[in-house]
Order: sequence, then C-alpha cells, then structure tokens
Amino acid sequence: MTGRLDGKVAVITGTASGQGRAAAELFASEGAIVVGCDVDAAGSAETVRLVTAAGGTITSTHPLDLTDDAAVRDWIAQVVADFGRIDILYANAGATRFAPVADTSYDDWAWVLRHELDIVFLPVHHAWPHLSEGASIVLVGSTAGITGSMTNTRIAHTATKGGVVAMTKQLAAEGASRGIRANCVSPGMILTPATQGDLLADDHPMRQIAQHIPLGRIGQPIEVARAALFLASDEASYITGANLVIDGGWSAVLPG
Ligand SMILES: NC(=O)c1ccc[n+]([C@@H]2O[C@H](COP(=O)([O-])OP(=O)(O)OC[C@H]3O[C@@H](n4cnc5c(N)ncnc54)[C@H](O)[C@@H]3O)[C@@H](O)[C@H]2O)c1
Repeated sequence: MTGRLDGKVAVITGTASGQGRAAAELFASEGAIVVGCDVDAAGSAETVRLVTAAGGTITSTHPLDLTDDAAVRDWIAQVVADFGRIDILYANAGATRFAPVADTSYDDWAWVLRHELDIVFLPVHHAWPHLSEGASIVLVGSTAGITGSMTNTRIAHTATKGGVVAMTKQLAAEGASRGIRANCVSPGMILTPATQGDLLADDHPMRQIAQHIPLGRIGQPIEVARAALFLASDEASYITGANLVIDGGWSAVLPG
C-alpha cells in the first residue's frame, strides 16, 4: 500500500505532546520518515515508542530547546547529515502565557514572542537551505491570530499568532522560485495538554464559550494533524500562502 508521504523526510517540532504527537503518528503511518524534537524528553520518548510500535519510522532529538539558536542550528545540521534533505517542515511547537494588555509585563511579552515566534523562525531559518525542490512548510497559527477575544485576554499571543500567519505569506513568496510551498493551520479550541490545564479547565470561563462552537464540540489533535497532512502532501501542490482554519466554524459564525 502506498502512503501519502512515502519516503518524505518530515521534520516536526514539538512531538512530545498534543498535536505534534498526533502528527508524528499520522505522518509516519503515511510513509514519512519522521524527525521529531521537543524540550520534553519523556513525552518525546513515548512518541517514539508509539510510532515505532505502529510500524512507523521516527528519529527524535530530546530534550531540545527550540528557542536556542545554536541548538537548533546544530540539530538541523545533524538532520541533514543523517537524511540529506528536508521535504516537510511542520513548525508545531509552542508555549504561551495569556494576560490582558494592562497586566502583560515586558518580560511576559518577550517570553511569548520567544516561545511562539523565535520557535518558528529558528527551525525555518536553519532548514531553509536544505529544503528540497517542492518541499512543504506548515506553520501553526491560531484563531487567536485572526480574532480578538473578550474572554481570553491574550495580547502577546494574538500578536505572535497573527505574526505566524503573516510569516506564512512571506515564506510562500520567498520559496516559490524553488517550488517550496508554505501554509498555515490555525486551530481553534483543541483538547491537548496545553488547553486541558488552562482554557479548557472546568472552572475557566472559556469552557462556556466553547459550547458555542457551531459544530458543537472541542476539536481533537488528530483533526489538526489531518489538515497539516493534506497541506504537507503533494495533494496540496497548488496551495501556498494559505491559512486553513480548523475550529468547527468558531471564528466564521457570530454567536446568536
Ligand atoms: N490546543 C489548542 O487549542 C491550540 C489552538 C491554537 C493553536 N495551537 C497551537 O498548536 C501548537 C501545538 O500545541 P498543542 O496544543 O499541541 O500544545 P502541547 O503543549 O500539547 O504541545 C506543544 C509542544 O511544544 C513543546 N515545546 C514548547 N516549548 C518548546 C521549546 N522551547 N522547545 C522545544 N519544544 C517546545 C512542548 O513541550 C509540547 O510538547 C502550538 O503552536 C499552539 O500554539 C493550539
């Protein structure tokens, strides 16, 4: 049986958890050679176990701090030494802090930029010369990058995710002459370890807001991974610069 990513070298960041783990499992099941990494060593090792047990191919570097320029440079150099090229780069990893503008210290602001913009820029920057002809980049924005929120006050996160959506378009422009496509997936409310302990905790006001999602439920990591798989694959051969929103209609339909 042929897979949709047969033989492709797919670098995925943040594979220890949530959507990154789901993508590692899905991409490997479609024949990709998955190259993962994460700052969380235990979670990364568990992902390697899951992928391998299912018959997939994965290597993983952990712990790796993707906000460390030299560490990312060395990691990508090792990937290229091992595999010779990168066909897919899915810059999924991220961490954030939510706060309204009045309560966002400059330190918090800088921390969020580092963990949501630097963490995308660095792997893209170091991988760029090694992307194969026709390679696919998938970035992860958010509904937070295209909307404001009365309930989840998040000035820095809104800025970074809007920045990721914008970066996608610039990468599409700069990659086009090499046949490199760059697209973005923008999840809405997805049940992952990141949201379980925060926005989707039982006592958080967002829990109520989430009930107003048109499709009537919170999304699952695999539903984002499936969209990323499509954009990463040759099936999306004429799609670049796009932002695919995966939110059950949340950002498209006004309440009421
Ligand atoms: N869950 C949601 O509802 C939601 C909504 C919109 C966007 N997103 C985005 O989806 C992506 C994945 O998030 P998730 O929900 O799966 O969260 P998650 O916390 O389950 O996974 C994120 C992974 O990134 C890793 N990571 C964080 N900082 C790192 C660093 N400095 N170096 C290396 N690895 C690091 C974490 O250890 C973790 O394994 C993120 O970019 C997030 O902003 C999530």
